Amino acid sequence: MPYSSSGKGCVNAIITGASRGLGRELALGFINKTLLKEATLSSLTLMAREPEGLRALKAELETLNTGTEIFTIAADLSCTAGIDKAMTGLKHRPIVYHVLINNAGSAKSASYEKMQDCDIEEQIYVNLIAPMQLTRFFMERFFEGQDAPLASLGRVIQISSISAFMPHATIIPYAIAKRGLMEFATAIAKTFPAKGFTINTIVPGLMATDMGLKAVRQMMPGSDALSKETIAVKMAPYLPEKKITSFDDVVNLVGFLISKEGGALNGEFFRVASGLL
Ligand SMILES: NC(=O)c1ccc[n+]([C@@H]2O[C@H](COP(=O)([O-])OP(=O)(O)OC[C@H]3O[C@@H](n4cnc5c(N)ncnc54)[C@H](OP(=O)(O)O)[C@@H]3O)[C@@H](O)[C@H]2O)c1
Repeated sequence: MPYSSSGKGCVNAIITGASRGLGRELALGFINKTLLKEATLSSLTLMAREPEGLRALKAELETLNTGTEIFTIAADLSCTAGIDKAMTGLKHRPIVYHVLINNAGSAKSASYEKMQDCDIEEQIYVNLIAPMQLTRFFMERFFEGQDAPLASLGRVIQISSISAFMPHATIIPYAIAKRGLMEFATAIAKTFPAKGFTINTIVPGLMATDMGLKAVRQMMPGSDALSKETIAVKMAPYLPEKKITSFDDVVNLVGFLISKEGGALNGEFFRVASGLL
């Protein structure tokens, strides 16, 4: 019963792409209680490809000593075998998961006619097929374990991209996968209306992460010396709101969507994209 009148709960959350960038900020948000103010986080499962990054983050979160169990699953979501590995890791624990944040993402840049078939497939897998499969697993577990429907919490958040609305010619597979992710969330929300369960999409703009830096370097010839830390200053003047998307913008929105009040929103998408579109 995640949202109880006493404010005590036992929420189990999953974040993909947790080791770096936005995923890492979301993990910190759970542990420092920016996210999920009304309930206690029982466990947090962190997923990414590289075990090292996951181990380091787990150790960092554990020093904050919150009593939350931190699990890690290292799996490459860009292929069927990796998705199966991720799923096996999740199934291994006989618990109901309450929050799934499909945040892992990967963008490879090349003109479409020259892009390798394997790169196209990988991007569709990471950005669309893996979140679809993880969502299905999450829903199966959630609905099986839903013993108190009115008090239950089941929240899926898809992290899409402004590219879904502005598909640049060099990232077409990424952009269409991110668009598909939004449409998937809307379809699931319409198909499985259930008390307590919601699925929504967040559409960030440029963020100061490894992926953001790669994108800026490709867009702006001569920007090789730019670092993640300087992206905000360099790019802000080009954006309608004169600022890039901050981690706080996204983390706070996730916080609202997984809150009790956020339960009224289902199948929606929310742009946090510096005023683009
Ligand atoms: N940064 C931006 O400007 C921007 C803009 C709009 C939307 N987004 C979206 O926001 C989300 C977070 O992006 P970010 O900027 O934080 O990216 P990031 O800094 O590049 O981090 C990506 C995360 O995803 C994991 N990942 C990448 N490929 C993976 C794979 N094949 N299998 C499993 N995990 C994988 C990475 O860990 P490993 O490398 O260890 O696997 C890492 O934890 C993504 O969905 C992205 O598409 C980003």
